[in-house]
Amino acid sequence: MNFQINIKGLSKHFGTNVVLDGVDLQITAETITAVIGKSGTGKSVLLKLIAGILEKNSGTIECTKILESGEAIPISFNDIGFSYMFQNNALFDSMTAFENVALPLIEGNNPLPKEKVKEKVNHLLEQLDLASSSNRYPGELSGGMNKRIAFARALVTEPKVVLFDEPTTGLDPERKFTVFDMIEKYRNLFGFSALLVSHDIPDVYKIVDSVAWLDEGKIQFFGKPENIDLISEIPIREYLKTGRISSRNL
Ligand SMILES: Nc1ncnc2c1ncn2[C@@H]1O[C@H](COP(=O)(O)OP(=O)(O)OP(=O)(O)O)[C@@H](O)[C@H]1O
Ligand SMILES: [Mg+2]
Repeated sequence: MNFQINIKGLSKHFGTNVVLDGVDLQITAETITAVIGKSGTGKSVLLKLIAGILEKNSGTIECTKILESGEAIPISFNDIGFSYMFQNNALFDSMTAFENVALPLIEGNNPLPKEKVKEKVNHLLEQLDLASSSNRYPGELSGGMNKRIAFARALVTEPKVVLFDEPTTGLDPERKFTVFDMIEKYRNLFGFSALLVSHDIPDVYKIVDSVAWLDEGKIQFFGKPENIDLISEIPIREYLKTGRISSRNL
């Protein structure tokens, strides 16, 4: 499906704490956008507003489906089919790894047949090196294992938009690249768009089409990773390239 999500002037405050102050961002079909920025700048809040978990104070989030004729018709974000990988995983402690990943396939009005569920879930668990942990509970597994379970759960429904909130934080380098490779592979396979919050700079740039830098409530830079080189302010350029703050002015 060809679609566009247009975010304009999105603002969110909690009491006097102004977190987002006019975010403009466009998400198009089959593109991966890294959302980067310092801790506490509102990256998770941005994802929650898009997912409808939090209510915005002002601004618009408009979704349109683009027909073959080029005509754009409004649709709801839910109609596109999205999934959300929470920063804290949000797994169910009373469910095994298998059951957590299977959940989106069996809840709702059109549950998949059991055999199909098994096939899909086991395939993902195998790819993520989790096959032997299938019957274990989140409390019995490591942080990195739970991260990968949450990642599998986000992909299992073959969504059109995935909101990944730090999918690689706390993973060892090998598994981190497995997750990045899978995001890239699955994008090609079933063509989703992703907003990918990450502190893994510059590694995350290898799989993204665009980088959106959130700071002081706004998207301060949006462009291809290679265009970071064109930024004239050296501290900002170095920060976006390396993820490290090298100047007190930033
Ligand atoms: N439900 C809430 N109620 C009140 N304040 C909130 C709530 N959620 C987030 N905030 C505030 O919004 C700001 C941005 O938080 P957010 O979690 O989006 O940061 P972040 O950019 O995702 O940081 P990190 O990189 O550490 O995950 C913080 O000041 C936080 O305290
Ligand atoms: Mg966050």
